[in-house]
Amino acid sequence: MSEIQEDRLLSGRTVLVAGATGGIGEGMTLALLRQGATVVATGRSEERLAGLADHVKEAGPGTLITRTVNVGDADSEKVRAQLSPYGALDGAVVSIGDWGSPERTGILDISDREWEEMIASNLTSHFHALRALTPLLSPDGALVHLSGFSADIPYPFAALVGATNAAKKSLVRSLEAELGGRGPRVYELIIGPIRTRPRAAIGADNPGWFSAEDLGRHAGRLVAHSGPYADAPLQYLITRAHGVRTTPPQ
Ligand SMILES: NC(=O)c1ccc[n+]([C@@H]2O[C@H](COP(=O)([O-])OP(=O)(O)OC[C@H]3O[C@@H](n4cnc5c(N)ncnc54)[C@H](OP(=O)(O)O)[C@@H]3O)[C@@H](O)[C@H]2O)c1
Repeated sequence: MSEIQEDRLLSGRTVLVAGATGGIGEGMTLALLRQGATVVATGRSEERLAGLADHVKEAGPGTLITRTVNVGDADSEKVRAQLSPYGALDGAVVSIGDWGSPERTGILDISDREWEEMIASNLTSHFHALRALTPLLSPDGALVHLSGFSADIPYPFAALVGATNAAKKSLVRSLEAELGGRGPRVYELIIGPIRTRPRAAIGADNPGWFSAEDLGRHAGRLVAHSGPYADAPLQYLITRAHGVRTTPPQ
C-alpha cells in the first residue's frame, strides 16, 4: 500500500487504544494517528496520558483524544458511560497488562498473593475490558487484543505471565466464536518481544523484533478490514523474520 493510501486508511474512523500510555500502546497510537484515525487513548493516569499527548503531538493526520478511564474496572456500565461521547467505535485495541515482578520465580515458589495479583492485573482486567468495550464497537468494527507468545509455549520461571496469556488468548478466541461473525470482528494477536521506548531505555532492543508502530499499522489495517490478514482471527507476530502467520512458528 502506498504512503498516500496508508495515511487515509482510517480517516473518518474512531479507534480506542486501551493501555495507550504503555510502551506498545503509545507506538500503536502514533501509527493509528498516522493512518488518519481519531484515536481515543485511555489510561488510568491523567499525568501519563499528558505524557502520551506530548510524545505524539507532531503525529497526524489523525486526531488524539485522551480520556482517563480504567477499562479494566469491574463496573462495565460506568466504563461504557465514560466512553459514550465517542459514539460507536470502529476499532478498539486492548494493550493493557502487567508483567508482574521482574524477578523470575519457579511455580513452586509462587505465593498466593503473587498469584492473585497477577490474575487480577493480567487476566480479570482483560475480561472486564472485553466486557465493557465489545458492545461499544459498531457491528462492522474490530477489536484487536494482544497476548504474549508465552500463551503457547512453556515459560519457565515466569509461569504466571504464561498462564494469564494462555487464559487471555482463550477468552478472546471464545468471544470471537460466540460473536460468530454477527458482531464486530475480533482478532487475537500473539506477539513476541516488541521494540518499545521503555524497553529500549533499559537496553532491550533488537531490529529483528516488530516495533510498537508496526503493530499499530497492522492493527489499523485490521480495523479497516484491509490486507491479507483481515479475515484471520488468530495471528502470530513473533519476529520480523517469521512475519505475520496464522499458525505458531516452530
Ligand atoms: N512489550 C513487549 O515486548 C510485550 C511482549 C509480549 C506481550 N506484551 C503484552 O502486551 C501488553 C502491553 O505491553 P507493554 O509493553 O506496552 O506494557 P506496559 O508498557 O507496561 O503498558 C501497559 C499499560 O497497560 C495499563 N495497565 C496495566 N495494568 C492495567 C490494569 N490492570 N487495568 C487497566 N490498565 C492497565 C497501564 O496504563 P496506565 O497505568 O496508564 O493505565 C500501562 O501503561 C501487556 O499485556 C504485555 O504483557 C508485551
